[in-house]
Amino acid sequence: MRTIRASIIGFGAVGQGVAEVLLQKDEYLRNIGLDIKVVAIADSKGAATDPNGVDLSKVLTRKRTEGIVGSEKLTGLEVITDTDHELVIETTPTDIETGGVGLPNMLAAFEHGRDVVTSNKGPLALKYRQLSEIAKENGSIFKFEATVGGAMPIINLTRDVLAGNDIISIEGILNGTCNYILTRMMEEQAPYEQMLAESQELGIAETDPTYDVEGIDAACKLVILANSIFNMDVTYKDVDVKGITKITPESLMLAQDDGYVIKQIGEVKNDLIRVGPRLVPVGHPLAVGGTLNVASVQTDLAGAVTITGHGAGSIETASAIISDIISIYR
Ligand code: HSE
Repeated sequence: MRTIRASIIGFGAVGQGVAEVLLQKDEYLRNIGLDIKVVAIADSKGAATDPNGVDLSKVLTRKRTEGIVGSEKLTGLEVITDTDHELVIETTPTDIETGGVGLPNMLAAFEHGRDVVTSNKGPLALKYRQLSEIAKENGSIFKFEATVGGAMPIINLTRDVLAGNDIISIEGILNGTCNYILTRMMEEQAPYEQMLAESQELGIAETDPTYDVEGIDAACKLVILANSIFNMDVTYKDVDVKGITKITPESLMLAQDDGYVIKQIGEVKNDLIRVGPRLVPVGHPLAVGGTLNVASVQTDLAGAVTITGHGAGSIETASAIISDIISIYR
């Protein structure tokens, strides 16, 4: 049995999802020889630490009833630097303007030789090259499947499963909120504003939904794909971005009459990175509805490989995180 001491930094929907999945999959993990022992959990108010393993059920209950993970006055950064552990699960909120607390957290983790698994897009969309170089210099492993497409395994599919192929392009729907809005506008012939409010109720929109509907969230995900798969060195400001706010129910109906749907499609290949509304034929593999994400990878050997899945959600995102953890330590 291999024991991996881990911290969970950030205990919102995704961090809690990770704790739940670790509880639910404890036996499964032990059966494959892994004991993932969470020795610290931190949120923006404080921390709970225990070198013998934090009681995840208790911390989940405390967070849900009292709004805190614990009474220790430690920041996530202090936990990362001062607690002996191998793995930092970084699930603090995304800030794509500055990288937020996620950026110093990840840098500190690597400087202390710890591995990082994250769902936090901001630091990667701004400083991917720096982060991956510092990880390498310190012998740390950096995995971030959850940052793009949630449970949809686009990064590990292209980097691992399709190894040996040249990746020619990736295109798809990388924002569930926009997909939901466009799908519902067509179904209900209702205006954009009404469907934006509906999507916010589902809890998948960013705190500021402008990031979704203006295409910035999808642009960040494209940047992560561009840097990690196409070896580019770009930030979201390099992406040609168009939002969906000008799409009307009438334009969706006109498209439908001609056998098309309008989708917010992101695309990355060679020197091109763009996201914006595009006409997609009804029945095309990219024409998925609701909150789904989809990505089609063009390769030289395998041809086109298309995957679809849930791009957001607590347990769905935790699925990508657990898969990254297992891939490091199994
Ligand atoms: N706001 C994002 C979306 C969440 O709608 O896809 C997942 O990154």
